[in-house]
Amino acid sequence: MTSRKPDPSELEPVERASRADLQALQLERLRWSLNHAYENVAHYRRAFDAAKVGPSDLKTLADLAKFPFTAKKDLRDNYPFGMFAVPREKVVRLHASSGTTGKPTVVGYTARDIDTWATVMARSIRAAGGRAGDIVHVSYGYGLFTGGLGAHYGAEKLGCTVIPISGGMTERQVQVIADFRPDIIMVTPSYMLAIAEEMERQGMDPKKASLKIGIFGAEPWTPAMRDAIEAKTSLDAIDIYGLSEIIGPGVAQECIETKDGLTVWEDHFYPEIIDPESGEVLPEGEKGELVFTSLTKEALPMVRYRTRDLTRLLPPTARSMRRIEKITGRSDDMLIIRGVNLFPTQVEELILRQPELEPYYTLEVTRPASLDELTVHVEMGTALANGSQESRHAAARRLEHNIKAYIGISATVRLALPMGLERSVGKAKRIIDRRPKE
Ligand code: DLL
Repeated sequence: MTSRKPDPSELEPVERASRADLQALQLERLRWSLNHAYENVAHYRRAFDAAKVGPSDLKTLADLAKFPFTAKKDLRDNYPFGMFAVPREKVVRLHASSGTTGKPTVVGYTARDIDTWATVMARSIRAAGGRAGDIVHVSYGYGLFTGGLGAHYGAEKLGCTVIPISGGMTERQVQVIADFRPDIIMVTPSYMLAIAEEMERQGMDPKKASLKIGIFGAEPWTPAMRDAIEAKTSLDAIDIYGLSEIIGPGVAQECIETKDGLTVWEDHFYPEIIDPESGEVLPEGEKGELVFTSLTKEALPMVRYRTRDLTRLLPPTARSMRRIEKITGRSDDMLIIRGVNLFPTQVEELILRQPELEPYYTLEVTRPASLDELTVHVEMGTALANGSQESRHAAARRLEHNIKAYIGISATVRLALPMGLERSVGKAKRIIDRRPKE
C-alpha cells in the first residue's frame, strides 16, 4: 500500500476554503441554479408555483427546504429531453441510466458541464492519491453509463495517461495490466474481485501487480470488502460516489489520507439529508435519504433530487467540505423479509467474516406460500469445495446462524462451487426477486 497524500499546495483553493466562504459561494450559486431551473424548465416552474415558492424566497441556505423535491419519476415523465434547461443544440453529451424498469433516465451536459465534471473527477482522483503522470486503467463501462467517460475525462484533466478499456473481456484486462503497468484502476469493487481472480488464474500474483490505487464505486460495498480487496492486492481501495442525475461519478470522494467517508464536492452539489417518510430535513449527523441540488449545472439543473441512497452528513476532515458516511444501501435495494429490513451489504459483511467463503453472492427471495423466504447463494473457496461434506455443512450453518443472530432473519444458505456464480462486469446484481408480482 502506498501513502500518497496530496500536498495541500496541489489542492484547488476551494478545497481548503473556510466554511463561511464556502457557504457564501453556495448561496450565490444556489440562487443562480434555482433561477435557472425556474426560468428554463416547465417542470420546475409548475412545481415551484404549486408549492408557492420562487427563487427569490431563498435568502439563506436553509430556505432550500421550502422548495419541492425532484424524483426519478419527474425525469421519466419528461423523457427524453423535457428537463433540459438549455436548447438541445447546446447539449454536447447525453448519458442515460439503465433503469431496471421502464424507460431509462436521460441526462445531458453542456460543454461547461463536461468541464465541471472533469474538474470534480480530477479532484476525486487526486483525493484518492492519483497525480499527473499516473497511468489510469478505466474498467468502468464506456457508453451511456457515466462511469467510463466520467473517469476518463477526469483522469485526462489531472494529467494522467488513460487506458480506456471499459468493462468486460477479463482475460484481456489482466493482460493489459501486466503489459501497460497502470498505477490506478477505476472499476466497480465487484468487478475488481473478478479481475484479481483472473490474475490468479493466469498465474499472476495480484499483490505483485503494478496497481497501487483502486477507485471503486457505482455500487454499495462494505468496509469488510475493502479489507478483503486490500488483503488480496497491494491496492489502497478508495470509495467514489456519484449518480447520473447529479453529474455522474465525482459527486463525493473518499480521501486517501483519512479513508473516513466521502467528501462531498459541495461547491457544485449541495447535500441535504431528509427523513424519507416525512420529507423533513434532518439535523446534521442523522441518517436518512441523501438529497442533492446542483449548484452549477447548465443543461440539467437538479433541485432537491431524491437519490434514495441512505447515509448521514459528517463534519469535514481532510477537506473543508462535509462528508457522507459510506453508503451501504439504497432504499430500493432494501428487502423486507417478514417485517425485518435487510440490505445485501449486511449479508456481505457476514460472508466476509468466514474466510472459507468467497465474496460472490446473491440473495434470492421467493414466496412459496404466504411468507417470503430468503436464500443466500454464496461461493465456497477451493479449500472448502475440496473439503469434507461436514465442513461445508458447518460453513453454511454458521452463516445461517450469523444472519439470524445479527440481522434477525431465518435464511437458507446454498453453497455454490468456485466460479459457480456469475461474475459482474459492472454493477453487481445482488437481489433475485422471484416473488409473484402484485
Ligand atoms: O453509478 C455513477 C458512478 C460511476 C459512481 C462510477 C461511481 C463510480 P448511476 O448509474 O446513475 O451512476 O447510479 C447511481 O449508484 O444512487 C447509488 O445508489 C449507487 N452508487 C454509486 N456510487 C456508489 C458508492 C453511477 N460509492 C447510484 N457506494 C447511486 C454506494 C453507490 N452506492
